[in-house]
Amino acid sequence: MGKVGFCLAVSCAVASCAIAAILVSRRVKSRRKWNRVVGVLKELEEGCSTPVGRLRQIVDAMVVEMHAGLASEGGSKLKMLLTFIDKLPDGNEEGTYYALDLGGTNFRVLRVQLGGKESKIMGHKVESQPIPQHLMTSTSEDLFDFIASTLKEFVEREGDDYTVQLDRRRELGFTFSFPVKQLSVSSGVLIKWTKGFSIEDLVGKDVAECLQQALTKKGLHMRVAVLVNDTVGTLAVGHYDDDDTVAAVIIGTGTNACYVEQTDAIIKCQGLLTNSGGMVVNMEWGNFWSSHLPRTSYDMDLDADSPNPNDQAFEKMISGMYLGDIVRRVILRMAQESDILGDVPPRLTVPFILSTPLMAAMHEDESSDLTEVSRILKDTFEIDDVPLKGRKVIVRVCDVVTRRAARLVAAGIVGILKKIGRDGSGGVTGGRSKSIGEPSNKVRRTVVAIEGSLYSSYNMFREYLNEAVAEILGEEVAQHVVLKVTEDGPGIGAALLAAAYSSSNVASDNVTLL
Ligand code: GLC
Repeated sequence: MGKVGFCLAVSCAVASCAIAAILVSRRVKSRRKWNRVVGVLKELEEGCSTPVGRLRQIVDAMVVEMHAGLASEGGSKLKMLLTFIDKLPDGNEEGTYYALDLGGTNFRVLRVQLGGKESKIMGHKVESQPIPQHLMTSTSEDLFDFIASTLKEFVEREGDDYTVQLDRRRELGFTFSFPVKQLSVSSGVLIKWTKGFSIEDLVGKDVAECLQQALTKKGLHMRVAVLVNDTVGTLAVGHYDDDDTVAAVIIGTGTNACYVEQTDAIIKCQGLLTNSGGMVVNMEWGNFWSSHLPRTSYDMDLDADSPNPNDQAFEKMISGMYLGDIVRRVILRMAQESDILGDVPPRLTVPFILSTPLMAAMHEDESSDLTEVSRILKDTFEIDDVPLKGRKVIVRVCDVVTRRAARLVAAGIVGILKKIGRDGSGGVTGGRSKSIGEPSNKVRRTVVAIEGSLYSSYNMFREYLNEAVAEILGEEVAQHVVLKVTEDGPGIGAALLAAAYSSSNVASDNVTLL
């Protein structure tokens, strides 16, 4: 080999070594970055873990807080608001009733025709529209003007079937799904806003009175017969269909629960009531807090950035308004710590850009190459070409966040069952026997009505929730607990309650005393 040849060979060898070194170092770097992604995922999994032991601690904390909230106003972060609803519709109600449902993503107007014992709900009409974004932070006058105008248009479109009744005052149920301190079944003041609403001049005012004034101003001859929370409407519908229903849970934009509390428990706590039986209590469980809750740095950041920091901690870990954004925050951290998504995509930093339905769609993508995940990442964040292993990690993030949410709801439900002695532990906390002589430790069939798209339309969420209820209670007890989906429960239930508490019905006894 000549000198030139030798030099060439040496240069080639050096170059190959250099290239190999670069490749190795890139691979090492990329493995290191990938390890960071895996590290973020592992940390999330640990932070969100909900083994059954922890769920049981949450159940017990829920029971303790329920007692404390009932015992005194401000005694717990759980408000345990008395609703004054001490009777629920039982099927004898007759006539046409209206309802307005405000508090989720959509505003609904409903008309429900009740045919008495034989035909029960003969028909109902619902019109739904998204709440205009600007109204969520405007004035109470604008809000109620919008509500009354929408109702007026609805009534005017009804046609001849209903105009005959125009001379008769109609009864209306108002579902207003925010924390309200009830003064009676048909009046109550707003305590605070949740779920991104903030119309400051309404706080402390009687919400039903504001609505009544707006209706009168529009010339609508209607009486606000009941003011209820969406959980209470859902309980009314659940109980109307199945009188073993003792509680209702909402898992939608927000989350909350109500249940039938024995009045002697309330009397003992507050010395308030005179009748015996039960009363529906709106727990406002979205604000539940316990140190046992598996809270991560993502939850804390989301809370700090929210319009209501230090409020609604449970809701912020569970409901549809927030789950998508928790996932976005995790993906953002992964992008910041590695280059699996290239440079940090600017849209990934936009709060609430990833909605919970899109998150659910990624989670439930069953295609082998996760095409739906690719599409959503591209459409939402303008991220192209995420490798399959990156897409798999994102699906896993959705799974961890959803599973935690569903299992926390399960713990909340079992907390209620335990409080009313329906958890199979012997009824120590005041569950009623079906009939005198029935052994108190026999587990009765217990129905919990559930409304909200996270449970009704998100299969993985529903499966995780059902599975956790069975895990906490044990299969034997769990088979007596039925979680029943309602549809339009908040609105239809308000119409049913308007019928039960209508002026013509107030003195009658064709209702179930709780
Ligand atoms: C929020 C509200 C509560 C409502 C729930 C579900 O938590 O404060 O009143 O029931 O959302 O809509």
